[in-house]
Amino acid sequence: MEFSELVAKRYSVRAYKPDPVEGEKLQQVLEAARLAPTAANRQPFQLIVIHTAPHKAELKRIYHREWFLQAPLVICACALPAEAWVRRDGKNYADVDVTIAMDHLILAAANLGLGTCWVGAFDPQAARQVLQLPDGVEPVAFTPLGYPADSLQLKERKPLSELVRYEHW
Ligand SMILES: Cc1cc2nc3c(=O)[nH]c(=O)nc-3n(C[C@H](O)[C@H](O)[C@H](O)COP(=O)(O)O)c2cc1C
Repeated sequence: MEFSELVAKRYSVRAYKPDPVEGEKLQQVLEAARLAPTAANRQPFQLIVIHTAPHKAELKRIYHREWFLQAPLVICACALPAEAWVRRDGKNYADVDVTIAMDHLILAAANLGLGTCWVGAFDPQAARQVLQLPDGVEPVAFTPLGYPADSLQLKERKPLSELVRYEHW
């Protein structure tokens, strides 16, 4: 797919078929995350791949939506702030880095015909407990990964004029 077509076609999939994700495709989307840029190349993130079927009850505690449990896989993207690059004023870039990696994964998935949906509204305490995350491993986002059972709706976006300012100083 052309990149412009890919970004236009990616959407938040909120209905999934139960069809399995091929191992090769899973590897491709994980590889896209691995190749993402990170500040100072620190790569301060961890991805957790969860098989949905045996863990439905636990996943429901993390994010209680029917569609979250429909795809065969769920991926959790975690930041590792202690490993991240820190700007001179103290800003830690772990969240930025893990978000770029997750977006690479999500775009690669769309390119392979797979659906995803960013989930930020999960219960972080439940996520930490269920996934047995040690201190310093921060769950930032989840996504289901599977074949879409819905289709792209109209994308509502602000016009560029509201999002972009050209310099005039
Ligand atoms: C950081 C982030 C967190 C999000 N969290 C949720 C969420 O918890 N639940 C949900 O249904 N959608 C979530 N979304 C999806 C957005 O609602 C969606 O991307 C936006 O409405 C644009 O629609 P589109 O992805 O179909 O283009 C999230 C998106 C982002 C980028």
